[in-house]
Amino acid sequence: MSRREEHLEVWCDQLASSPADAARLLDALATIGIETYPAPASARGSGLVLFDAVTPEVRSRIRERSAGGTERVIAVAMQRDALGGGVGWELLHTGASDALQFGDPAATADALAARLRRWQAVDHIVESPLVEANLAGESAVWRTFLRRIVEVAKFSTMPILIRGESGTGKELVARLIHTLDARPDKKELVVLDCTTVVPELSGSEFFGHERGAYTGAAGARDGAFALADGGTLFLDEVGELPLRLQAELLRVVQEGTYKRVGGNTWQRTRFRLVCATHRDLEQQMQAGRFRRDFYYRIAAWTCRLPSLRERRDDVPALVRHFLRHCFQGRSVPPLEAAVAELFVARDYPGNVRDLRHLVECIAWRHVGDGPITLYDVPEEERPDGSAEQTIAPAGEMFEQAARLALHCGMGLKEISNAAADASVRLALDIEHGNVGRAAERLGITDRGLQKRRALWRRKEPDGDATAS
Ligand SMILES: Nc1ncnc2c1ncn2[C@@H]1O[C@H](COP(=O)(O)OP(=O)(O)OP(=O)(O)O)[C@@H](O)[C@H]1O
Ligand SMILES: [Mg+2]
Repeated sequence: MSRREEHLEVWCDQLASSPADAARLLDALATIGIETYPAPASARGSGLVLFDAVTPEVRSRIRERSAGGTERVIAVAMQRDALGGGVGWELLHTGASDALQFGDPAATADALAARLRRWQAVDHIVESPLVEANLAGESAVWRTFLRRIVEVAKFSTMPILIRGESGTGKELVARLIHTLDARPDKKELVVLDCTTVVPELSGSEFFGHERGAYTGAAGARDGAFALADGGTLFLDEVGELPLRLQAELLRVVQEGTYKRVGGNTWQRTRFRLVCATHRDLEQQMQAGRFRRDFYYRIAAWTCRLPSLRERRDDVPALVRHFLRHCFQGRSVPPLEAAVAELFVARDYPGNVRDLRHLVECIAWRHVGDGPITLYDVPEEERPDGSAEQTIAPAGEMFEQAARLALHCGMGLKEISNAAADASVRLALDIEHGNVGRAAERLGITDRGLQKRRALWRRKEPDGDATAS
């Protein structure tokens, strides 16, 4: 595909003083297929902020446009040497995905285009039916996680270590990494669960054996390293691997060479290594239970799957996803409000697996064509007593906050305003900055929400609005 065909449109916030330089940069971008348009107030998606020096306005604009770092913003310094002395890092902390120094217009445009096109390719995959059919979630936390994993899976072949609590989807992500891996003629994914490796048989399990290597070894057998050749080896629960085995695996993981048990010749294998663990391997290393040299070989790139507590906003999407699975081929019945509330209010110590089991129980109990009702909720899941119980924790939380506010000398009006402001900010965050949907969630008009945001801007010193 030619570069001209990869047409892309991004917004541009022009805060720099030289319109001539900005025009030269935007022209250079246009010649390589990146069209820019002036950023509207509610601009979302990828875009550019052109600036001279980091002022409160620049900071606030980046914070707002990036919706706290969930949308990709490139900060382009139009004045010479504007990114030195840690300024670049500061911009990243503020929410920018990247900070670039403007120099030669064509070279700067090339650098910008490369990043924007990479992000476009990543988003295309994140929003693809392949990903959406397997991994449900819409929250900002989840989207940020998915973008990172998709990028490293698709555009590299490096070993990946996936960390995360039980039931957060580590195996699902390992499978996605293999699916997205772009190696030509990629072979199979081989899964080895390290919790089930029997020490006496582990050699054969990993390396394979020659005929007669053991009593009863009537024929030669391939181990996991041979089976994964050309594909991916997934070592699940790698934190459970005994120290002796970690030492034995060092060479093959690094060099791709090994000997079968009972064999003398070196075998070659090339695979992508993906490991997963629910353990804190840093702690394990400090306690001497995990080898540092092995860790550095398996963890060229690490990611941590968020727990369901960290992405509670995803509960409704996950419920819909699992219901679709349960009612395959049939229409999914709607949920009565009380059941939907139960899903959102409940804790999930076993993370997504826990939620999946609850949905499956409810779907299994459901009969007839009507909505899913309280009857379908298993007895042990029913809240004791009245509805007050589920509301109580929220009430208690407000009470605590109000007590603190009263001690700080705040009056009723200030407390109400602070609660309303916090709710508006949260709603915008949940809806990724979409004003219409946030307003709907809050039960107010778009205009009402915009007015409140304008009020924040006026309150901030130097107009430094933190409106996202
Ligand atoms: N984002 C998601 N979308 C849809 N299903 C998910 C998601 N995350 C997890 N699941 C489901 O939750 C269950 C647990 O997932 P998985 O086995 O990948 O978790 P895990 O982190 O490997 O758990 P464990 O540590 O217990 O092995 C599976 O049924 C999986 O399909
Ligand atoms: Mg697992």
